[in-house]
Amino acid sequence: MNSFGRNFRVSLFGESHGTNVGVTIDGVPAGLPICADDFTGDIARRKTGAKGTSPRVEMNIPNIISGVFNDHANGDPITIIFSNTGMNSKSYDSVKDIPRPSHADFVAAKKFRGFEDYRGGGHFSGRITIGLVVAGVIAKKIIAPIEVKAEILEVGGSANINEAIDNALRERDSIGGIVQCVAKVMPIGLGEPFFDSVESVLGHLLFSIPAIKGVEFGEGFRCARMKGSEHNDCYVSSAGRTATNHAGGVIGGISNGNDLVFRVAVKPTASIAREQNTMNFKTNQMDTLSIVGAHDTCIALRIPVIAEAVTAIGLADLLMEEKTHE
Ligand SMILES: Cc1cc2nc3c(=O)[nH]c(=O)nc-3n(C[C@H](O)[C@H](O)[C@H](O)COP(=O)(O)O)c2cc1C
Repeated sequence: MNSFGRNFRVSLFGESHGTNVGVTIDGVPAGLPICADDFTGDIARRKTGAKGTSPRVEMNIPNIISGVFNDHANGDPITIIFSNTGMNSKSYDSVKDIPRPSHADFVAAKKFRGFEDYRGGGHFSGRITIGLVVAGVIAKKIIAPIEVKAEILEVGGSANINEAIDNALRERDSIGGIVQCVAKVMPIGLGEPFFDSVESVLGHLLFSIPAIKGVEFGEGFRCARMKGSEHNDCYVSSAGRTATNHAGGVIGGISNGNDLVFRVAVKPTASIAREQNTMNFKTNQMDTLSIVGAHDTCIALRIPVIAEAVTAIGLADLLMEEKTHE
């Protein structure tokens, strides 16, 4: 299913080259101030057109079609849609015969038995994340005073983002990256010990973002090489502050009031202009493929605002769960 959340429920819909994409958000408390301008800043942070991102021209004007009355949530599900523009579906004609290596074309064709909309990656496209971003704007209002901020740490293995992008563009290749997200002013007590731990809920959401291949909280995989004496976060205040934050703000699945810190690994874009040897499923012979069309050279450049959005969505859901038990 395309829905997430028990209390703050987000459902995504649309395809990259269909008429619209969008989101329905259920559970927004009546009275929360919401207007179209609220979305402008975060939508702009996700946009295409900058060096290293897709040249596709997206208008990205949010059309709030339900759930908001007189600039306030009215308690009904909020649906926000975006028209799709700037598509060139012709460049996807060959996807049926030669599915793009490491994109979803092959699995989509098998799973949906040829009925899938393969144009521009269909429902697997990064385009669908615009719905997450606007849901994130609303979630950020609900979780205030918690502040969520994400930043790019490196792309293509380098902290010099500009140089790494220039090299990838010159080589007609793509690169991945690492994005770090920090949530400050965290309350103590969000999350559950097992299946709805903060890590599980946020991991579920973060791995739902196309192209995310790794998530680590605090020290992440590095903790396996540390000793307890190095890794333990000793308490330095009766409010539960710790001298270090190797845990990334979560212990036993529950937020401990220190900053929530995690990183995501973003893979290099599958669609590359460089020639690749791959199977032609029409001829059943190996063939060559060089991908044309509007593609991001480095998806990581567009991930920070999306990572923030899903973090806010997950925290809103957990926070509202706590309130139901008050
Ligand atoms: C914001 C964003 C933009 C993306 N742009 C592209 C793109 O231009 N070309 C591409 O091949 N994949 C792009 N992707 C990634 C694909 O959607 C993704 O790799 C594909 O659906 C397969 O899923 P997986 O990588 O999670 O396994 C983008 C993802 C996001 C989040």
